[in-house]
Amino acid sequence: MITEEIKEEIKYRCDIVDVISAYVPLKRAGSNYTGRCPFHSERSPSFTVFPSTKSFYCFGCGAGGDVFTFMMKRENIEYRAAVELLAKRAGIELPPDNEPRSQDSVRRERVLNMNREAARFYHACLYSDVGKAGLDYLTKRGLSGAVIKHFGLGFAPDGFGAVTSHLMRLGYTAEEMSSAFLCGISRKNNRPYDYFRNRVIFPIIDVTGNVVAFGGRVMDGSLPKYLNTSDTPAFKKSRNLFALNFAKSKCAERLILCEGYMDVIALHAHGFENAVATLGTAITPEQARIMSKYTKQVIISYDSDEAGQRATSKAIKLLTEAGLDVRVLRIPGAKDPDEFLQKNGSTAHEKFKLLLDQSRAQFEFKLESVLARHDISIVDERIKAAAELCSIIAEVYSDAEREVYIGVVSDRLDIQRDSLKNDVKRIMRSRQKTQKNEEMQEIIRKTSGFGDSVNSDTIKNVLAVSTEENLLGILLLYPENMRSIKRGELKLSADDFYSEFNRRVFSEMMNRYSEARQFDFGDLAEVFNPDEMGRITSMLVRRQQLTTNDSVVLSELIERLRSETKQKRLEETGDQIDLINEILTKKGKKPRQS
Ligand code: CTP
Ligand code: MN
Repeated sequence: MITEEIKEEIKYRCDIVDVISAYVPLKRAGSNYTGRCPFHSERSPSFTVFPSTKSFYCFGCGAGGDVFTFMMKRENIEYRAAVELLAKRAGIELPPDNEPRSQDSVRRERVLNMNREAARFYHACLYSDVGKAGLDYLTKRGLSGAVIKHFGLGFAPDGFGAVTSHLMRLGYTAEEMSSAFLCGISRKNNRPYDYFRNRVIFPIIDVTGNVVAFGGRVMDGSLPKYLNTSDTPAFKKSRNLFALNFAKSKCAERLILCEGYMDVIALHAHGFENAVATLGTAITPEQARIMSKYTKQVIISYDSDEAGQRATSKAIKLLTEAGLDVRVLRIPGAKDPDEFLQKNGSTAHEKFKLLLDQSRAQFEFKLESVLARHDISIVDERIKAAAELCSIIAEVYSDAEREVYIGVVSDRLDIQRDSLKNDVKRIMRSRQKTQKNEEMQEIIRKTSGFGDSVNSDTIKNVLAVSTEENLLGILLLYPENMRSIKRGELKLSADDFYSEFNRRVFSEMMNRYSEARQFDFGDLAEVFNPDEMGRITSMLVRRQQLTTNDSVVLSELIERLRSETKQKRLEETGDQIDLINEILTKKGKKPRQS
């Protein structure tokens, strides 16, 4: 059991602004702080941290809570794990955990420990007789002993039971090994066999230092060239980047994004420790978002073949959407960064540095790729190219930037500036219209409560629910009011609540308050999920902007809620007898019998 006192102490020592700053660059805004939300893509900051209530809330996506909720969401862990993490940071010893832990977190921890053992095993193999071929291969590819150690590279022997029997001896079961993709299970005899065989091994290490996955490369031309760990209880491919564990502290200004493990390793070996790669898949929106948490600018350095260039276009789009400044590197005379560095020997660092400095802004990259696809000496083609480029320019926010690009296109295609300008304007206007429509739809959707997955009763009585949210907001902000409720000075009970969700919030708050005689809204994260916590925080935050503790407002809200709830319940049951009787009584007539 973690007591309130311990949690308070952790919160006191782990200042919410400090903790969140490690993930999100924050700027002071009055007594609060704002930044770009880590939970959805946005350009302008709507993510806010409130030191006074030790809470955060995103006005864009509705994520919110206290410092524990933040860690739960950000690290994708459970409540207890979040408390443990922050306790460690604060140097606070937690009492041993007696309650049985959820199966998920046990599994996750087992998988991580097993991965670490496997990584050690593979690495050791590289230096034993069985691994000579692996070490030779890596050496031939130009990697020094220091680099091999730094990345913890390894070798998976060419047998069926090397790593599996090692892990069995350490007490891991076949089922656990197979859930971590370290082994397959033979259909013939139901026995585990090594998944990675006769391959050099690249361990994937997350930003907290856990070995979360492996990539294994063949040493000849056979296929598949790589085998990779699929998603496991401890790993999501779409959310990790190779070498971010090293790059994270070297990339405040810019990150270099490559395609291959070998590119990243070669770059780090040549002093570019801000290089990362996706894990054998095209870049995902989550990865783009993660990058935007660590850096401002990404230089895409993909292979120069056609596939690489196509992937570049996709990456530009996702990275720009995540608010990053994107540049594209052109590597002359080599298929990828690794080859370029190998070719240039002792001047490799210098030469690559030059390429980085010359990396082109995304517009130029797009311009070149459009021009490469059209023969502009043919009229039709020239028109098509112009149309494509206008559409690209119309996406640019800044007037000045658009002006510059229009000038470039005008020169290259020999078309009047004004004509291009008009085309761009027209495209922008029509896009704005679509966007406005979409926004309108969104507002209608929200105000009608349709699709409110946290509180599905909203749609049935918007007014009652918003009154409830106001009320709960005040209670969350000024828990001392709960004492008045408990003593009966303020009359409010769970029955007064119309929506089931808010009733649950109210009951939970009152129970906690009654037991501990104090209340901290963040504790609700023990029973409410992160989405629900977001909603609860929004009540707190919206109220915080509106009022001071005001008993008149509170009483009025209670009155309004009562009448709303009553009215609505009558309508719902269709049993109007009470209402009719009330009217009859008022008119001095005899009530009907039900
Ligand atoms: N990849 C993969 N599976 C494959 C091929 C590639 O997962 N069958 C992933 C790997 O993460 C690899 C990246 O895509 O690192 C880039 O592929 P490629 O350029 O073929 O590999 P490199 O790592 O550059 O390897 P090398 O330089 O040794 O050819
Ligand atoms: Mn490559």
